[in-house]
Order: sequence, then C-alpha cells, then structure tokens
Amino acid sequence: MLRFLTSGESHGKALTTIVEGIPANLPLTEDYIETQMARRQVGYGRGGRMKIEKDRAEILSGVRHGLTMGSPIGMHIINRDFSTGTGPDGVPWVDEMSVNPSDVPFEPITSLRPGHADTPGITKYMQSDARNILERSSARESAARVAAGAVARRFLEEFGIEIHGHVRCIGGIHANVPSNIDWAELEMDPYHSDNPNGSKVAAVRCADPDAAARMITEIDSAREAGDSLGGIIEVIVNGLPIGLGSHIQWDKKLTTRLAAAVMSINAVKGVEFGAGFNQADLRGSQVHDVVKPQSEWETNQEGWLNPWERRTNNSGGLEGGMTTGEPLVVRAVVKPIATIINGLETVDLTSGEFVAKAHFERSDITFVPTCAVIEEAMVALILADAMLEKFGGDSLEEIKRNWRGYMNNTGPISS
Ligand SMILES: Cc1cc2nc3c(=O)[nH]c(=O)nc-3n(C[C@H](O)[C@H](O)[C@H](O)COP(=O)(O)O)c2cc1C
Repeated sequence: MLRFLTSGESHGKALTTIVEGIPANLPLTEDYIETQMARRQVGYGRGGRMKIEKDRAEILSGVRHGLTMGSPIGMHIINRDFSTGTGPDGVPWVDEMSVNPSDVPFEPITSLRPGHADTPGITKYMQSDARNILERSSARESAARVAAGAVARRFLEEFGIEIHGHVRCIGGIHANVPSNIDWAELEMDPYHSDNPNGSKVAAVRCADPDAAARMITEIDSAREAGDSLGGIIEVIVNGLPIGLGSHIQWDKKLTTRLAAAVMSINAVKGVEFGAGFNQADLRGSQVHDVVKPQSEWETNQEGWLNPWERRTNNSGGLEGGMTTGEPLVVRAVVKPIATIINGLETVDLTSGEFVAKAHFERSDITFVPTCAVIEEAMVALILADAMLEKFGGDSLEEIKRNWRGYMNNTGPISS
C-alpha cells in the first residue's frame, strides 16, 4: 500500500511529507522532484507568492545514492516567505508564525471570508484568530502533494505510464481541445508580465491557442474588477494496464479512489470521468465503448498489445471500477478563489457585527493551471498505489517481473 501525509502551514517554516510504500531500487533524485514542483508554480493569474518561492523538496530519508531503499521517503520544502517574505506588517513571518510564544504583538484576523475554511474552521477548532485555520487550509500545502506525487510519477514512468494535465476552461471560456494535444507545447516558457513573448498556451496550460489568449484577457479583466475565476481541469493517463482497481467492494473501485483524491484538492467541487455528465443526454448505444475485434488490435506507444482495445473511450478508461487499458480521463471543476480583492460582505468574528469587506490577504486571481498539476500528482499517487496492489513486491525488479507476466497473458483465453 502506498500512503502519504503532509504537514505544514502556508507561512510556517516548511512543508513536510512522508511517502511510504515505494519499493526499493527506484531511481529518484531531488532534481527530478524539483522539475515537477516548478510546473506547479507556473500559471497566469497566480499572485505574488509564487515569485517569492522557488520550491525544492529536500529528501531526508528513504533514498541512498539516487535509489530508493523501500523505507519511508521523507521530504521537506522550505517556505522562503517565512524568513525572507513580507508578512502582514511588512516584515517576514518569523514572529507572526513563531512556534514558541512571542512577545511581538499581532493583529488577529476576525473578518471571515465566505467560501474559505474560516467560518466552519474557527467554530470547530474554537479559535479567535482565523489565521489558525487559513494557514493550513491554504493550498500552499499542495506543494507537498506535488513532491509526493513526483515520487509516484517516477515509479509509474518505469512502466511506460504517462500523466498529463491541462486546462479546459477558465472563467467561462471553454477550449476547443485538439484530439492530439502537443504536451511539450504546454511546458514551454509561459507568457507573463516579465515575458510578453512567452507562450500563452503554456501560461494557462490550455492546448487551444485562441481560447488561451481569451482566458488571459478574462483573467486581466477579473483582476481589474477585483474578482476571481474558476474553471475545469483534465488529466489524461496513457499506458495503464487493464485491470487496476476492482469491482468487488465499494472502496476497492479505482473510480472511488480517484474521485476522492481529486475531490480532496482545495476548491475542487466536482469530478467526472470520460463522457461524464454528458452521458445523461445520450442513449446507451451512443455511450458504451465497443471492444475491437482481433483484426483491429494494435500495439500501443509503449509497445504493449491491449487485446481489448475500444473503438471509443467514453468510459474514460474505467469500467466496474477497473482500468480498461484505454487512456484514463479525469476532469474536475474548480470554484473561483474565495479571497477576492473587492471582498464580499461578511461578519466580524468577535462582535458578530456586519463587515463590508471580508479579510483580504495576498491572493491569486485564478489558479486553474496549477490545479491541473496538482491533479496530476493526486492521480499519480492513486495509480501508483493501484499498481503496487496488482503487481506487489518490495523491489522494482520484483514488481516489473509480476507486471510483465500479467501483460504477456492478457487477451482471449484461447490465444
Ligand atoms: C493551487 C491553489 C491555489 C489557491 N489559492 C488561493 C488563494 O490565493 N486564495 C484563496 O482564497 N483560495 C485559494 N485556493 C482555494 C482555497 O485553498 C480553498 O478554496 C479553501 O481551502 C476552501 O476549501 P474548499 O474550496 O475546498 O471548500 C487555492 C487552491 C488551489 C488548489
């Protein structure tokens, strides 16, 4: 079983994560993880924080001489903002976020932001300063998830499994997504205020150049209006074997596990697979994916034959809670950011009285491109767990042996 936990506050000293269950002998370096973490920091519409942080996860345990040892992989990511950034009073966050009691006076946050974790959080945890809630509910935590997800992604790469995330919609602008997305284009140098010649497609991680340009205009317009935007993200996974997950119990279904993992990302409000909610408007004959006969079988890009290949992929690569061997397609809707420059009306935590504007703290206008990278990480963690469950072993070699044996024996019973 693969599991991971994170700890850390948004403006605290550091984020940490422990990933347990990765087998021995997997090549893994801090540079590889850093490359994935850098992808999370890109995106038109992000706030000033991303200019301060340059994330790097330091591996503290579980890896020796570039190879995993099968022991828990501990990592930490320093929050530069803690010691060098600008805190609420124009000084770094060292005193504001001090672990030890501090004599330096600080201003508690009492005007609660609708749409954030502030109101239920202060009530449930009996807090008089909403900072004690927002520091952990902030999606800064997702940096640790992306570090953990990078470890899972490295493991999946050994089996030719590739994970790509992209943006389908920002602020009501929907992309006309090409059937063959050029993934390398989405990783190019992005457009931003310091780089007007950069790629707009990469800036919003959207494969439709026309929609990408309109999304950027819409983000600028929301910024000017002091507002925020949400959107739709999609992750596509190629190279999965047939039969990961199981139909036999509700919590063994890969569909359940993926949906929960993606729903756990801050601000995600809905998940769908393949044709998703559109299926409500279609007949069964239009939806279900016909299995190709032997005469149409092809090897996939990794050189494996999927003898049960489909003519369509409306299921999004999952039937009965198991992978079909077709690409996995998981989409999610992300709500607009709760911290708005022109804050919404709210109440004061101490007096219970009306406040014209909810608390504002340095915030993004939109974060949809980043969410696609976080979704990749969560999907990678679940798929790595499902691969370990199916092909279990303590070393990479043992798992590969089990995987090859299975892949060579799928197909019609008589073959
Ligand atoms: C990458 C990322 C960045 C985010 N940045 C902000 C932000 O700057 N301001 C904000 O209010 N919410 C931001 N959020 C959303 C909040 O974390 C989230 O809405 C909040 O924790 C409440 O949880 P819920 O929306 O899941 O109910 C961000 C989310 C993600 C995934």
